[in-house]
Amino acid sequence: MTDFISLPFYDLFHENGHVPVIRETLPSLLTGVTRSILEVGAGTGLITTSLADWSPAEIFALEPSDGMRAILLSRLNARPELLDRVTVLPCDALSVRLPEPAECVVMINVLYSLPHDYRRRLWPVLAEQLEPGGLLVFTWRAGGAPQVRPVERLESRRVGRHTYSVWSGVTESDEKETFTGRFVYRITEGDEVISEEEVVGEAYRPLWETVESELTGAGFTQQPGAPDGLLAWRRAG
Ligand SMILES: C[S@@+](CC[C@H](N)C(=O)[O-])C[C@H]1O[C@@H](n2cnc3c(N)ncnc32)[C@H](O)[C@@H]1O
Repeated sequence: MTDFISLPFYDLFHENGHVPVIRETLPSLLTGVTRSILEVGAGTGLITTSLADWSPAEIFALEPSDGMRAILLSRLNARPELLDRVTVLPCDALSVRLPEPAECVVMINVLYSLPHDYRRRLWPVLAEQLEPGGLLVFTWRAGGAPQVRPVERLESRRVGRHTYSVWSGVTESDEKETFTGRFVYRITEGDEVISEEEVVGEAYRPLWETVESELTGAGFTQQPGAPDGLLAWRRAG
């Protein structure tokens, strides 16, 4: 599974990437959320533990990837006070069935990995898992699929004598929603390349009109005033 190629790099790069921005912008949207949060695509738990720090709510951290979930559980294990408040769900988003409807669903950096038909089927499932008036928050980047571009280095991190670097590019784009991303994961020591592996996969960045009509169709209403990079919607009351 390509997951295992990117996994060792995940925390090294994202702790400096989208995570600090989300930690700035997300808390204001969660004001008043005190009972329960479903986090879809919790990954290694970088956002999960922050959710637990911001809110006293019970958290359901859903993560289908075995590798990501192992790191998530390891992170929770390092915070023993969270273990009776965070439940880790090992299923994909369409299969989620909560014991009671949640007050809020949070989905950070997951939309891009959901194919069109999957995403279209997901909104009604999330609406069903939310209580009436419940809040749905997710990351959003306008503009649709990016244009084709060659790989370029995103960032490098030093780990002892080794340097971990990630390179990314776009090899195909329909210039609407779907594109093919190419990622190169490289570990070097000085000039010597210790390992270099590539992941190529389809990704999705839906247009605003598409997302708006899907969410409206699933019974959500947009909540104005969400910070840049996030959208907030409420299930009908
Ligand atoms: C880029 S990571 C984001 C992880 C975490 N939310 C964060 O911000 O660090 C995307 C996550 O979405 C998960 N994912 C992909 N497809 C999914 C699906 N159909 N249902 C639930 N999670 C999914 C992946 O396994 C991965 O952990």
